[in-house]
Amino acid sequence: MVSWKRVCVTGGAGFVGSHLCDALVGAGSEVVCVDDLSSGSRSNVAALLEARGAGGSGGRFSLIEADVAGGIPVEGPFDAVLHLASAASPPEYLARPLETLAVGSSGTLNALDLAGRCGARFLLASTSEVYGDPAVHPQTESYWGNVNPVGPRSVYDEAKRFSEALSMAYHRLGKVDVRIVRIFNTYGPRLRPRDGRVLSNFAVQALSGEPITVYGDGSQTRSLCYVDDEVAGILALLDSDVTGPVNIGNPAEITVLELARKVIDATGSASQIVFRPIPEDDPTRRCPDIARARELLGWSPRVDLEEGLERTLAYYREILAPGSASGLFAPDGPGPGDKQAGAPR
Ligand SMILES: NC(=O)c1ccc[n+]([C@@H]2O[C@H](COP(=O)([O-])OP(=O)(O)OC[C@H]3O[C@@H](n4cnc5c(N)ncnc54)[C@H](O)[C@@H]3O)[C@@H](O)[C@H]2O)c1
Repeated sequence: MVSWKRVCVTGGAGFVGSHLCDALVGAGSEVVCVDDLSSGSRSNVAALLEARGAGGSGGRFSLIEADVAGGIPVEGPFDAVLHLASAASPPEYLARPLETLAVGSSGTLNALDLAGRCGARFLLASTSEVYGDPAVHPQTESYWGNVNPVGPRSVYDEAKRFSEALSMAYHRLGKVDVRIVRIFNTYGPRLRPRDGRVLSNFAVQALSGEPITVYGDGSQTRSLCYVDDEVAGILALLDSDVTGPVNIGNPAEITVLELARKVIDATGSASQIVFRPIPEDDPTRRCPDIARARELLGWSPRVDLEEGLERTLAYYREILAPGSASGLFAPDGPGPGDKQAGAPR
């Protein structure tokens, strides 16, 4: 891995962002994380902050609390800007549609401008959602997608599509050296129990003995990438001379119903599966074609679902244990089975 001297990570206190910050600091970078903590948390970067207090490797980590749509209040020099700030789960972006559009437009503009001012490389965390409900399977980067521009989920999908367009315009104008990663469903420790994504929902429901909520008949597919693999892929792209977009995800496809059964088996839960109506524009199939990542980055995922599930369940068992400050029963959001407008991805 290239050793980036000083890196700005927007959304670095979130699930994927905090693992990226760990990897960057571990590789010797100084990291400035800018996050409004809307879905991220200090606890995700607690070890980095504590190490900073103790004068350890985390001395190379700082957290600035700010909404990047309103500006990024940090000073260069930076040699890389990684833009991950965005609501990422359906319940989150459906509840905050205007903020999601703002961070995808003004936030991306501000992050690109920061990179441009510093002469830094810029990496955009885009998403498989740019493919919408795909008519091509598996999804290659050359597929342009099937997004409903006026559906409820468009606030996220179109914001990310706009972010890609904006990044490419900066790149073509020679203002910023851009990398675009299209992240597919990623899971692992620090995925919030309340997040509303498919694996966190199922895991928390199974461990709490609640019914497991499957939307539709559960025949829709997802492909789940363990977070360590995702981070390795993102960093491989950052280090490469490939602008992208590049899909980073795990092509092992599983139906949502099979996944629910796997989680029940792995937890030994007595939870029953309940079926709910499928929400509008829920993608029926989702699977990355990762030929480009394999060929150009030499990257492919290493952690299979069984192993990733075991590591993730260990995390949920720990934070859901009585007395743990898991946030599962915090008053500021719906429980994992309460999602009305958005099925978990
Ligand atoms: N995890 C996945 O499966 C997945 C899939 C596709 C794309 N992505 C993308 O990866 C990125 C990280 O996602 P994640 O899964 O870690 O989600 P997350 O919600 O855990 O992280 C997003 C972070 O961005 C912060 N944030 C949101 N709006 C902000 C704003 N206006 N200003 C500053 N900070 C803000 C949040 O507080 C949070 O820390 C997102 O851009 C998301 O769209 C993730």
